[in-house]
Amino acid sequence: MWGLGRSLTDEQITGLAGYYSKQPLTRIPIEGDTSRIPLGKVIFGSGVPTKNVSACHACHGEAGKGNDTFPRMAGQHADYIIKQLNVFQRTNERPEGAVMKTVAHELTEENIKNVAAYLQALPNIYLRRRMSVALRQEHSCHLFETGANAG
Ligand code: HEC
Repeated sequence: MWGLGRSLTDEQITGLAGYYSKQPLTRIPIEGDTSRIPLGKVIFGSGVPTKNVSACHACHGEAGKGNDTFPRMAGQHADYIIKQLNVFQRTNERPEGAVMKTVAHELTEENIKNVAAYLQALPNIYLRRRMSVALRQEHSCHLFETGANAG
């Protein structure tokens, strides 16, 4: 990829970035060892305080959606996340990612696998949570209306 990227002009890079940012998100089904997901959720939401690892959501956003500066994490393949965290931790191949080098430095292989499992599953979990909140709201509205009618 480094080799491929080198031959692109700034204009081509901006064009490609615009194209990819407009692609719809494909949800990856929750698969593999699901016991990692809750462990990963803790790391994403709180970091690893005993090792001074910052919470990932502080930069990558509450739902891992990212923004202009911070890449989206939600729905990314776990294997890719693991590979990139290893790159930050062990190499200098991503010089723009100095902040991630610090973050990744103290993560164990287990931490990395857990947070990656959570992030791959995140859009599904988030959607499920939003749906259950919506359903609860609908339900309480219904109860309220029924109560109002009865009164
Ligand atoms: C202080 C802000 C900050 C925090 C906290 C942070 N990140 Fe990042 N992260 C970044 C930035 C900036 C990049 C883009 C780096 C680059 O350009 O190479 C990035 C990139 C990444 C990437 C590579 C994404 C890709 O598409 O290649 C992964 C994976 C990642 N972060 C995971 C995490 C995890 C897991 C945590 C929590 C343990 C975390 N980050 C916490 C700022 C942060």
